[in-house]
Amino acid sequence: MEHKIEELRAAADSEIKVAADLKELDNVRVKFLGKKGELTNLLRGMSQLSAEDRPRVGKIVNEARADIENLIAVKNSELKEKALQDKLASEKIDVTLPGRKIQRGHLHPLTLTLNRVKEIFINMGYAVEEGPEVELDLYNFEALNLPKDHPARDAQDSFYITENILLRTQTSPVQARTMQKNPPNTPIRMIAPGRVYRRDDFDASHSPMFTQIEGLVIDEKITFGDLVGTLDFFCKEMFGKDTKIRLRPSFFPFTEPSTEVDVNCPICHGKGGGCKVCHDSGWLEILGAGEVHPRVLEMSGYDPKKVSGYAFGMGVERLTMIKYAIDDLRLFFENDIRFLNQF
Ligand code: PHE
Repeated sequence: MEHKIEELRAAADSEIKVAADLKELDNVRVKFLGKKGELTNLLRGMSQLSAEDRPRVGKIVNEARADIENLIAVKNSELKEKALQDKLASEKIDVTLPGRKIQRGHLHPLTLTLNRVKEIFINMGYAVEEGPEVELDLYNFEALNLPKDHPARDAQDSFYITENILLRTQTSPVQARTMQKNPPNTPIRMIAPGRVYRRDDFDASHSPMFTQIEGLVIDEKITFGDLVGTLDFFCKEMFGKDTKIRLRPSFFPFTEPSTEVDVNCPICHGKGGGCKVCHDSGWLEILGAGEVHPRVLEMSGYDPKKVSGYAFGMGVERLTMIKYAIDDLRLFFENDIRFLNQF
């Protein structure tokens, strides 16, 4: 009997040792210690023993049982620890692997220019006004001294919606709107950015839709000199301190006298040599301007004997093309990411 017990214990020991996982270990437990297990069977056979042998053998069996239980418990925690280590190893995260980058957008070059122009004028105390893109003929033309049959209307071929409503061809109607929303002769210092529409073909230098920024200043004793000083300062801020401006006489029905303003080419600085931006002329036209025509003041309720003013209008696409040496206006509207990513 004792011999049998010793054999069982040895057998259990070696089977516990080779158990590869918790399931196998449990099978070993059932095999030896379960209800029908080998050691349990042995205990049942105790009844055949003599009364004096029983306590001694019982003690040995109980010891063997405790031994096997102990071996199983030790192996059990070993296997659990191993299972945990395996799980940790298989779920390991490589924290040094770079993450997937999120593609960040950025502002459109026209918006960058617009923001810069706004910033320059806001710093000089200008307010920012707005007007509708679908405009009355009254504001787009008539209040700007362009009556119905005026030949200068031809210069801005328009998209008419009805006889009296059109897509605005310029931001100048915001001049009249701003004056009319004020009590007469209230001083004004404003810019008005926005989209304008003309029936032009779409090519490298024309688009049926583009962006302008209007400017209007009205107060007592505003002179042409104030206009020139302001534009000179603006151009230096926009294109660099060395920038020079040149004024050429021009005509607009709503300003008198009128001028077109050029800046010296910020790309070749007038040195020529095959400059793609100014075509070696050294100068680039950037805006139209002038003193507000007395009729325009009158029509919007201002008194030309009491106040005077100046106005200007510039193209945002054009400013951007000059600033970044872009030679095709269509690039602004095609949304080609290879172009846009350069800003
Ligand atoms: N509105 C004119 C244009 O679109 C520009 C301009 C604005 C000229 C204000 C003079 C004064 O050509």
